[in-house]
Amino acid sequence: MKLYEFFKADDRLLDLFERIRAELISSDLDQVWNHTKRVIKNLFIIKDYVNFDLKKALIAAIIHDIGFMEVVNGHEMVSTQMMKTALDKLWDHVTVNEVCHIVEAHQFNGKVRPQTIEAKALHDADVMDYAGEKGIINLFKLLKNLGFRDSRVAKWIHELTKDGFIIPEVRKNHDKDLKQTENFFLNFVKDLSRERVDFKKYGMDNI
Ligand SMILES: [Fe+2]
Ligand SMILES: [Fe+2]
Repeated sequence: MKLYEFFKADDRLLDLFERIRAELISSDLDQVWNHTKRVIKNLFIIKDYVNFDLKKALIAAIIHDIGFMEVVNGHEMVSTQMMKTALDKLWDHVTVNEVCHIVEAHQFNGKVRPQTIEAKALHDADVMDYAGEKGIINLFKLLKNLGFRDSRVAKWIHELTKDGFIIPEVRKNHDKDLKQTENFFLNFVKDLSRERVDFKKYGMDNI
């Protein structure tokens, strides 16, 4: 089933999609919204490698980063807190609980580790958005939109590449791209530190 067919088949998905889009755009988090759309597409790519409940993963993907409206660290927990009441009105108890786990476990190096295949799929779909040449650009845009400073960007990239992909088939197909992201940032940080050495030569140690 194609993406638009999925949305067409269930009004609740489309309503949720529109609602999250409106909230993120009105909060000037347009790059978070762009990232969200790409993560949804990545889920469809992962679906080719592994079998999982796409609908549940899709609900989670739509809402997974809405917590960025309030915080960066721990946003995955805030996302479920913000959406729980709305989800309860749309889906049954079991579905909502499963969706909440998928959202809470999506963050690389997060406190909650993915326990279900759907949670692993969203985790990997999220990481995939930062992999390779396009991923590096995505990362810069997103982190700028979230107001990150350089030191925090470096920490984020380190955690991202350390965690990597969880699903073996995704790792096999996309690890090369993630390695490219890692190499790019290692060189980037090296260049920054080289400049620092040059400054020291001029007696400006505090820069
Ligand atoms: Fe996230
Ligand atoms: Fe994300």
